[in-house]
Amino acid sequence: FNAKIPELSNPSVCMRDPQRVQEILQSMVKAGSNTVQVISDFDMTLTRFAYNGKRCPTCHNILDNSNLISNDCKIELKELLNTYYPIEIDSSRSIEEKLPLMVEWWTKAHELLVQQKIRKDLLAMVVQESDAMLREGYKLLFDHLYEHSIPLLIFSAGIGDILEEVIRQAGVFHPNVKVFSNYMDFDESGELRAFKGELIHIYNKREGALLNTGHFQELRTRPNVLLLGDSLGDLTMADGVHDMENILKIGFLNDKVEERKQSYLDSYDIVLLKDETLEVPNAIMHIYNQLRMFHDNLLF
Ligand code: TMP
Ligand code: MG
Repeated sequence: FNAKIPELSNPSVCMRDPQRVQEILQSMVKAGSNTVQVISDFDMTLTRFAYNGKRCPTCHNILDNSNLISNDCKIELKELLNTYYPIEIDSSRSIEEKLPLMVEWWTKAHELLVQQKIRKDLLAMVVQESDAMLREGYKLLFDHLYEHSIPLLIFSAGIGDILEEVIRQAGVFHPNVKVFSNYMDFDESGELRAFKGELIHIYNKREGALLNTGHFQELRTRPNVLLLGDSLGDLTMADGVHDMENILKIGFLNDKVEERKQSYLDSYDIVLLKDETLEVPNAIMHIYNQLRMFHDNLLF
């Protein structure tokens, strides 16, 4: 079976239990592509971590680096990043210990952004001028899912308005894409006044999923899940799925690889080490096609 997915032998691929991966894949492919849904994180999962040795921006960073933010505010946002990002990726602290600190980061960052009176009509330009970059192979993935009517849920603790603009400008915001994220609330004059609804940060995606029961109810005929993430917090994104049958979890490990490798191997089925491409997810989606062609050949 793995011979059908030569990409699983790429040097970036690590699996704790390759046999188990094979079993999950077999079972998912047997159930057919009309029973699958894809749930993916956005920042550093669908977008690149680095390009030519330079870090790529998250949704928040796209705004932080733009000319919509004053220099003083930029400094404060940078300080927050320098304080809290090392905590986010610190493998010596538990999720319980990190959780309140992550809430603090998001709360402070959003308060600062709201003070900047950001204008809705300038967001498209900000994204246009940013260094935002989707991972190599993104078009293949988005187009394939759309063409095969496979729902894609992008579940992000980033900023929904920015994320949507990134995929719109990349030409892949297809109708099968649904987004759960933090959305901006603008006043009548089009200035940011708050963020809407419950805050989504990196460790409460489970709660976010459970608030959106309607979405998962609509997808109840799709109990097989391909999950893509880059944080251990992303593992709970599928907690709202009804009567789950199979889940294949692919984790991108971008930073502090040696320190974090074991914990990623323990919780993700496939771990991709410093892999800036979507080659492996694409190869996995592609085996559904191969199988269908195989069946078609049998029929004719
Ligand atoms: P994600 O759920 O789409 O990956 O988005 C969360 C990422 O956003 C997480 O890795 C941390 C990052 N982030 C910033 O870069 N700047 C900020 O101000 C905040 C609050 C989060
Ligand atoms: Mg992420």
